[in-house]
Amino acid sequence: MNILITGGCGFIGSNFTRYILKKNENVRVVNLDKLTYAGNPANLVDLASHYPDRYQFVKGDIGDKVAVQKIFDTYDITWIVHFAAESHVDRSIIGPEVFLHTNIIGTFTLLEAALGCWPLEDPEQLKGRRFLHISTDEVYGSLDESGYFTEKTAYDPSSPYSASKASSDHLVNAYYRTYGLPTIITNCSNNYGPYQFPEKLIPLMIHNALKGIELPVYGDGENVRDWIYVEDHCEALLEVLEKGDPGERYNIGGNSERRNKEVVLLICNELDKQLGLINDRPRKDLIRFVSDRPGHDRRYAIDGSKIREELGWEPAVSFEEGIRLTIEWYLQNPEWVEGILNGSYREYYRKQYGGRLSEQES
Ligand code: NAD
Ligand code: DAU
Repeated sequence: MNILITGGCGFIGSNFTRYILKKNENVRVVNLDKLTYAGNPANLVDLASHYPDRYQFVKGDIGDKVAVQKIFDTYDITWIVHFAAESHVDRSIIGPEVFLHTNIIGTFTLLEAALGCWPLEDPEQLKGRRFLHISTDEVYGSLDESGYFTEKTAYDPSSPYSASKASSDHLVNAYYRTYGLPTIITNCSNNYGPYQFPEKLIPLMIHNALKGIELPVYGDGENVRDWIYVEDHCEALLEVLEKGDPGERYNIGGNSERRNKEVVLLICNELDKQLGLINDRPRKDLIRFVSDRPGHDRRYAIDGSKIREELGWEPAVSFEEGIRLTIEWYLQNPEWVEGILNGSYREYYRKQYGGRLSEQES
């Protein structure tokens, strides 16, 4: 079975690529990735030699019709697992245009290619084919102190990122309703774990706390996210691919709502415990409350009852255990982080935070 994974060199895509190749010996993965700043070949560097017949990398843009068509012409694709996106809210505030190109036009291009190549008139040939669109809980907007996002919650996105993801979700749904393309959408909460680009909250805080750099918490730090360990997300996606119904959407959450302040404190305490104090001071002294993110959603929380009741899936990793595993991974892979701290990330960091990323910088 051939699986087209888009964005396989990113955080969740690379974790899923590893997961599926290990889990199922009968699959071949074709990974289409443009290698933007977030796409890192180092995430999958060992796969070509490990799985010479089962892993194929194609460098290209999901919005490039010709490149996408070539893949469909070369391989009979059974599953499309679509991760590729511009994924960082803060970057979407600084420069939204690329979010529209990749998240909306890119998704449209993939839908069109699947529509043109899949045998929609032949139920036997179509059976088992899936276009899985990986989306986010951010499309639902912000919650107050109570309540949860269900699959029926109305879309109400706040940022250019979440608005572009909402738009792509609508397109995916339309291709199911209008043309019968066997699509499924998943809306997942905040992921963390190995290979996450250090612009996101948890790896950013781990890196800064390790180096003794200030820990910038937006606003009052009371915003709540529902954190899921990335391997749990990968497992949920496979369940959806194998057992989910076309035309459906499934919310995926981690059952781990935490305030940002608590998350940062946990990371500081865990690092102090493992490595000792830094310059004779607890790492929590590095916390700084900085200007809030414009349009900052207050709280996300997932009602995971549909996927639990219909597909029998629940997250397995607690937040405390996941953070311990994540810190362990970052400590064991310093060269991976150093490889990312290149010119373009340093430049982004200075622009976003007005500060330095390491003591070596003047
Ligand atoms: P990421 O930013 O780490 O990786 C994105 C990947 O897509 C990179 O490898 C990048 O090179 C590739 N890419 C970007 N534009 C491309 C293009 N035009 N053509 C081909 N490849 C392109 O993202 P992530 O955090 O792994 O998120 C993956 C998906 O999951 C996204 O669709 C995101 O919206 C969704 N999601 C993320 C989270 C989260 O917490 N990270 C939660 C829910 C949903
Ligand atoms: O909910 C799913 C979404 O989770 C995904 O769709 C996005 O791709 C992913 O980036 C993530 O979005 P968030 O905006 O919630 O994640 P981020 O890591 O950027 O921020 C998490 C929280 O931490 C948020 O409330 C903002 C805050 N924050 C973030 C950064 C980077 C800070 O306080 N300081 C920071 O420096």
